[in-house]
Order: sequence, then structure tokens, then C-alpha cells
Amino acid sequence: MELNYKRPDGMARINTKELADAFIEEQVKELQAQIGDKKVLLALSGGVDSSVVAALLIKAIGKQLVCVHVNHGLLRKGEPEQVVKVFRDEMNANLVYVDAVDRFLDKLAGVAEPEKKRKIIGAEFIRVFEEEARKLDGIEFLAQGTIYPDILESDGVKAHHNVGGLPEDLQFELVEPLRLLYKDEVRMVGDALGLPAGMVYRQPFPGPGLGVRCLGAITRDRLEAVREADAILREEFAKNGLEGKVWQYFVSIPDFKSVGVKDGKRYEGWPAIIRAVNTTDAMSATVEEVPYALLHHITNRITAEVAGVNRVLFDLTPKPVGTIEWE
Ligand code: XMP
Repeated sequence: MELNYKRPDGMARINTKELADAFIEEQVKELQAQIGDKKVLLALSGGVDSSVVAALLIKAIGKQLVCVHVNHGLLRKGEPEQVVKVFRDEMNANLVYVDAVDRFLDKLAGVAEPEKKRKIIGAEFIRVFEEEARKLDGIEFLAQGTIYPDILESDGVKAHHNVGGLPEDLQFELVEPLRLLYKDEVRMVGDALGLPAGMVYRQPFPGPGLGVRCLGAITRDRLEAVREADAILREEFAKNGLEGKVWQYFVSIPDFKSVGVKDGKRYEGWPAIIRAVNTTDAMSATVEEVPYALLHHITNRITAEVAGVNRVLFDLTPKPVGTIEWE
């Protein structure tokens, strides 16, 4: 079946619960008609788009959907656990959880160049996904969380880009139920499907994950420091009403150390760099004016709780001149 990638003129913007419910009802019928009693495969990262696709397909075809969650070791603290909890435990989904942490980190060992790191992560992801797909029998469809801006930004190329990575004998028919929706509409639909707010309204997170925030060659100890410092930042932003207000916030850790003092002794540690920005389109961004007292508190927590970190810096650079991520 050919999918339509053009949003029809006059298609109503889904901005109420009623419209989201109507979209869900219509999609469930369409998906059931398209898929019948066949099986569908979905790479479920836990991001907004793939989570909403999963919830929609679970509603439409239940266990005929096979979700594969690849933990590549570059996810934020608690994310793989949340995917398992929400989809396997609460929504009773058919979920294959793949612990590929060692595989990814071994492949990335010693690689400092950002583009090389991205390529390794992308290629390894496809390899792991392909291996899992081969273990499964009778899959005819591949679901993807393609959304309308993906198509607008790439003339439809990205819609097929992901499957492009799979070998010839593993080509599936595509299922892309969100392909005509904007991000705010996807969130509305996710809400209406009962997904947790933390999943539906979460801030953007790059595909290569913490791999772009553990600067230079990734080491396990520094990656852990990025993950722990990020968790503290997120926890404190949530507690202080900044979650959902600030567009994107995170910690990056460069691969150099400076000297510090602890318990009367000099020791070397990494600096943790906090970034908190606001933007509408990620093309330009301004820096959030995070209250000083909160920054002090976060600094105290990170330096006390995160092994290997002895300084905390706050990035005051807008985009341009800086990019949002440090890589
Ligand atoms: P920059 O750093 O280019 O980031 O100002 C703009 C937005 O894109 C995200 N970003 C990425 N997303 N893969 C992704 O999926 C990447 O390699 C990547 N690099 C940056 C970034 O988090 C920000 O939201």
C-alpha cells in the first residue's frame, strides 16, 4: 500500500482531546485494515514519536506488534527501565529488550571524532536491529515514528531513510501513522493514549544520545558521570518548575581534567558543563536565566555526588555563536 505523505489542505490541527480521540479511532481502523493478522516490527527508543506509534499500534493490533528496545548504553538515567515498565508491564506489549551496552561501548572505544562516533552508533544500531528482526518469524511490516516535519525537511527522503539501512532481504512494508502530524499533535495523541506526561512532553534528545555529550573518546567512567550529572540537573529543574518551561537542558563533560581540592588534598577531575536553552526551531537559541541559587545548589550536588567531577560550569553562549550541543 502506498502511503500518502502530503497533509491534505484543510486538515484540522489536532489541538483538543476530542480531535486526538477522533484521530486515534480513525487510525486504529486504518491500521487494522492495513495490517490484518500480520506482524509489525518497531524500534522503540522511548522518544516521543516511537512511543506514540507503539501505543497506537498496541491499541490497534495488540501483540501483533513486536517492539524492539535497543539499550546502547547512551540513554539517560532511568530511560530503558521506563520503556520496559510502561510498555511491557503496563501496556502488556510484546517487547524485546536488547542489552547492547557492551557492544556499542566496545565499538566506540578510542573514537574521538564526533562524526565517526555518530556513524558507529547509527551503523551498530541498524546491525543490532537487523539481528533481532532476523530472529523473528513472519514480520511483514515495519512501523516508524516519522512525523510531518521529517518529511517537510527532507522532501520525504527521511521517511524511507531509516529502512534504507536494512539489507535487501529485510525490506518491510512501512507503517507510519504519525506521518502527517506536527510534534504538538503527536503529543496530544500520546496524551490521549494515556502515555505518561514525562514521556509525551520530554525535551528533545539526540539520536546518538549521551554519546554527543561525553565529548571526545567515550570512556565508561566519564559516560557514567555525564548520566549522573544529567539526572541531577533534570531532577532539580523538575523540582524547581523549570521542566516543561526550558526547551532543552543537559550536561556535557569534556575529556580533560583540571586540578581541584577535596579533603585537603589536590586531585584531578572533569568539569561538568550545564547548558539550558530556549528556541522554537533549534536554528537559533537563547540561554535560560537559571536562578543563581539553583545553579549553586546543582553545583554542590554534582560535585558531591558525581564521581570524577570537580567543577561545574554554566554555558552562557547563545546559538549562534555556539550550537546547542557541544559537538
Ligand atoms: P545543534 O547542536 O546543532 O542542535 O545546535 C540542534 C538540535 O539538534 C539536536 N542534535 C541532534 N539530534 N542527532 C540528533 O538526533 C544528532 O547527532 C544531533 N546533534 C544535535 C540537539 O540536541 C538540538 O536539539
